[in-house]
Amino acid sequence: MEALNQVLRELRARYVELNPNSHAADRAAENHLPGGNTRTVLHYDPFPLTMQAGVGAELIDLDGHRYVDFVGEYSAGLFGHSDPQIKAAVDRGLESGIVMGAPTDYERQLAGVICQRFPAVDQVRFCNSGTEANVWALTTARMLTGRTKFIAFHDAYHGGFLKFPGGHCKLNLPFDFQLAEYNDTEAAEALIRSVGDQLAAVIVEPILGAGGNIPGDPEFLHTLRQATRETGGLLIFDEVKTARIGPAGMQGLVGVKPDLTTLGKFLGGGLPIGAFGGSQEVMQHFNPKHENSWNHAGTFNNDVCSMSAGCVAMGEIFTPERAQEFLDWSEGFRVSLNQAFSERALPMRANGLGSIIAIHFSRAPTRRTSDITAGCRALRPLLHMELLLDGILVCGRGDFFLSLPMNDSHLERAKDALLRFGENHRDLIEHTLEAAG
Ligand SMILES: Cc1ncc(COP(=O)(O)O)c(C=O)c1O
Repeated sequence: MEALNQVLRELRARYVELNPNSHAADRAAENHLPGGNTRTVLHYDPFPLTMQAGVGAELIDLDGHRYVDFVGEYSAGLFGHSDPQIKAAVDRGLESGIVMGAPTDYERQLAGVICQRFPAVDQVRFCNSGTEANVWALTTARMLTGRTKFIAFHDAYHGGFLKFPGGHCKLNLPFDFQLAEYNDTEAAEALIRSVGDQLAAVIVEPILGAGGNIPGDPEFLHTLRQATRETGGLLIFDEVKTARIGPAGMQGLVGVKPDLTTLGKFLGGGLPIGAFGGSQEVMQHFNPKHENSWNHAGTFNNDVCSMSAGCVAMGEIFTPERAQEFLDWSEGFRVSLNQAFSERALPMRANGLGSIIAIHFSRAPTRRTSDITAGCRALRPLLHMELLLDGILVCGRGDFFLSLPMNDSHLERAKDALLRFGENHRDLIEHTLEAAG
């Protein structure tokens, strides 16, 4: 590990030298924000870059460096930073009145687009974030079933208070969760049956995101559907990220119809948004025209900018046809990365599906989080820092999110940078994987 730490120290020293303005801005922010930060995932050592501008799929930092942005706002940045149609839609929203405190055409139109798009969503309600959407979905399951127990998966992320990195998290809301291992079909089925008639819902990401962008095996997802149906619990698909996979999200791709679907991230064209939806029968509980309906609140649920941008984003730009083309194009890139890694015998894999990718240090695809070795985790900061110094921004944990304004030359640059990284550090990677296990 000493060799790895030494290389990291050298890279970070270069980074500090190249980024005096970001360094100073980070220091100054420490006075009023703990660690200069208001979103933990955006922190990395020694300090994160401060961005001053975004154009298309590129970002420019305070010191004037330009990057290809594969952080892609952790998938919310699907439309990039300056789409003229989205900007015009936001302007229209603002023109119409900023806080009208009444229904508008925008949310009605966006709801129509979403319900046409996702097979399991007949009706939808909006909220402010993916986290909120998941809290609403869990609460809906509790109300509908009269039960209180939930099943989720190790290393799943469903929001700031609903996350399971390495197990239960003390910051979580006090829902009663039991955890199973992702893609372990037998164990998940056994747990569902053992919780049985106390199970309110299983919540699952059809691609396990923060846990390593691990696609759910179709058999695993179908089994969750079958077993929850048999025990009377609900199945919640958290498609906050994965709704971008193809025209109808992962539910469309694998042919599983969950009881509830949660959405967010890119749905508002990059503006704050969340949504949860399901069958008419379930969602009618929120119908305020009915007696004893459930009160769903939220001042900004129908914020005009998010709703107006969402209409254009989902209705005009990311149409089902465009979503299919984007999936094919981005999956072609992912497959080509794996070909290039194996031709060079590099212990690297582009895990994931389509525009949701994570680089893992391994020669085999990752199917479960237990496949991710300590060595793989230890190498992530090296990959992150070296790509950054090469003009390619990726998430600290090795995620790449592709965006619509990217073109073939952006992808070529990323591929070249990854191969350069692999060749430059081949021995160090092999050694770290062997030493750390
Ligand atoms: C799968 C998944 N669900 C829910 C969330 C929470 O969304 P938000 O950050 O909008 O609250 C995220 C955010 O990263 C996510 O990846």
